[in-house]
Amino acid sequence: MPGDKTFYITTPIYYVNGVPHVGSATTTLLCDALARYHRLRGEPTFLLTGTDEHAQKVADAAAKAGETPQAFVDRISQNYIECWRFLNISNDDFIRTSEPRHRRVVAEVFRRLQDSGDIYAGQYEGWYSVADETFFRDSEVADGRAIETGAVVERVTEEVYYFRLSAYGDRLLQHIQDNPNFLQPDTRRNEVIAFIKEGLRDLAISRRNTGWGIPVPEDPSQVVYVWFDALINYLTVTGWPENPDWEVLWPADVHLVGKEIYTRFHATLWPAMLMGLGLGLPGTVLGHGWWLIEGEKGSKSKGNIPTPQDVAADLAARSGASPEVCVDALRYYLIRGISFTGDAEFSAAALVDRYNYELANDLGNLLHRTLNMLKQYAGGTVPGGAAARTADGALAFLSREVTQDAERAMTALDPAGALSVLWKLVGAGNKEIDTQAPWKRHKAGDTEGVADALYAALETLRIISVLLAPFLPHVAGRVREQLGLTDAPRWADAAQWGLLPAGTKTQEAQPIFPRIDIKRNANPLPAKEPAVTEPAAPAAPTADLITIDEFARVQLRVAEIKTAERIEKAKKLLRLTVDVGEGTDRQLVAGIAESYAPEDLPGRKIVVVANLQPATIRGVESQGMLLAATDADGRIILMTPERLDIAPGAKVK
Ligand code: MSP
Repeated sequence: MPGDKTFYITTPIYYVNGVPHVGSATTTLLCDALARYHRLRGEPTFLLTGTDEHAQKVADAAAKAGETPQAFVDRISQNYIECWRFLNISNDDFIRTSEPRHRRVVAEVFRRLQDSGDIYAGQYEGWYSVADETFFRDSEVADGRAIETGAVVERVTEEVYYFRLSAYGDRLLQHIQDNPNFLQPDTRRNEVIAFIKEGLRDLAISRRNTGWGIPVPEDPSQVVYVWFDALINYLTVTGWPENPDWEVLWPADVHLVGKEIYTRFHATLWPAMLMGLGLGLPGTVLGHGWWLIEGEKGSKSKGNIPTPQDVAADLAARSGASPEVCVDALRYYLIRGISFTGDAEFSAAALVDRYNYELANDLGNLLHRTLNMLKQYAGGTVPGGAAARTADGALAFLSREVTQDAERAMTALDPAGALSVLWKLVGAGNKEIDTQAPWKRHKAGDTEGVADALYAALETLRIISVLLAPFLPHVAGRVREQLGLTDAPRWADAAQWGLLPAGTKTQEAQPIFPRIDIKRNANPLPAKEPAVTEPAAPAAPTADLITIDEFARVQLRVAEIKTAERIEKAKKLLRLTVDVGEGTDRQLVAGIAESYAPEDLPGRKIVVVANLQPATIRGVESQGMLLAATDADGRIILMTPERLDIAPGAKVK
């Protein structure tokens, strides 16, 4: 009904000092999946994203590029618009903070808070970090850097305007206590409570006007501090205060942000500003962790993190899958892998693994073998009469359960959780085909049995195509097309078994995810479509078995231990140097200190995994892993070659 509250979800607005990368893409994709889910349920939904253009670091980047700030932000914001289009983001608006509609609202907020006494003029002396666009107190700075972020700070002494943040601590704590969903996940809520309890101080919210930013109303010598300006974007798009319908959107249901902009800005400053304005607070502020690149935060300024376009293009070159499918594969990897409580390591190799195992092997194979068998045993037409018989079957039961669990996960704002339950259904679909073995039934002349098994698999795929749609919209469409479905998915249809009409003509099976041959891709070549899986030869019965090629990716080598020593304050760990026949020794961190004395180790031959990504353990980099077994008493036993005259570097297979 018009006037009904819309589900309103926002991404942070992105600084336009660089190009979008897989980190910024992840925040946007999580929001997109949640927004698409609500739309599939038929709920009015609004997804907002945009760009944050008045930062000092943006002005600095413009100067470096030899452009005016406005020309620069006009150009760079296009990168975000294009990248979100490329990733199939279904945003309903894209706000830029340099737009007049936003500048007006920021001025209005400033005026109102000034009138109510929440904004007052004063003198600021302290630190400012341009990298973080954050003011820091003396106690938060050591050796010229912010302790929290490690960013360089500069001393600032300025006439500024302050926001009376100190007045809101108790009210914020009360709101947090009364609204358990307000701050998610729980660990971040605790962090915010601790931060507020330390004592909130009034915050400088203006800076000297050097020609870029929104001027303070009535005092053009100052511009509004970029965070004070940026947070208001969420309100600007509602049309507040003139639009009589602004409350159709407000308050926002979800602000989703990365952890570094959670506590100070989205969970403290913004709600306090809203309280000062007498406006409702967002339903949930949800924070996620970072993608790390070799243990460090991936970021624009470090330039150590790839763009979505590059990752997808690389996947397309390796797999031969279509660009749209590669975008969906990247969506899958980013949404499924990001952590809300911790950080996660981004790796192209892990993306290829998920592509091969979860998309090609599990999902692709289920679709492919089902359609092939249908073609072979039933002319490609969905069998009749079977729907009723299979409604009591294991897959029908599991589909209902998975749909409910996926709904629960999405309500709990956990898209990764929803994908993981969905993959239970994909796995069960494959397993059930193995159990029912339609090829055997066909051979035995059991036409009804074949029809039942195939109908159940097809119906499971139809339900999967609905549940998949918020996450992999293009692939969901391809699955539906191949199933012969012409309508758009609706979430409600996932809850009902038997909607795939008998007599539907399915399409010829077309592989959506050509498998990536890992070995061949040592020297990447565009791959061809793989050979079609023969339905008569049942695929590997469980996902737990690996192929010889998969095993071959692990490079095992004989190594000789050169030195061994304990690692301070880590009673289980030893630092080893080992000769793996490469000319220079490698360093390993091994959890064997409780079973081996360091002095007993030099000279021993062992087996190590030589192509493991390095990891830093207790501050020490480990460039591989040794092989060992654990006996019934928990003692660790090293794997050693049977003859000791074997040279370091020898291959183990
Ligand atoms: N402009 C501010 C937000 C203002 S919102 C009113 C800002 N912009 S940002 O471009 O630096 O970051 C935007 C989002 O990208 C944040 O949610 C941030 O966590 C996310 N990511 C940036 N690098 C990331 C990773 N390496 N990993 C995951 N997400 C990360 O902050």
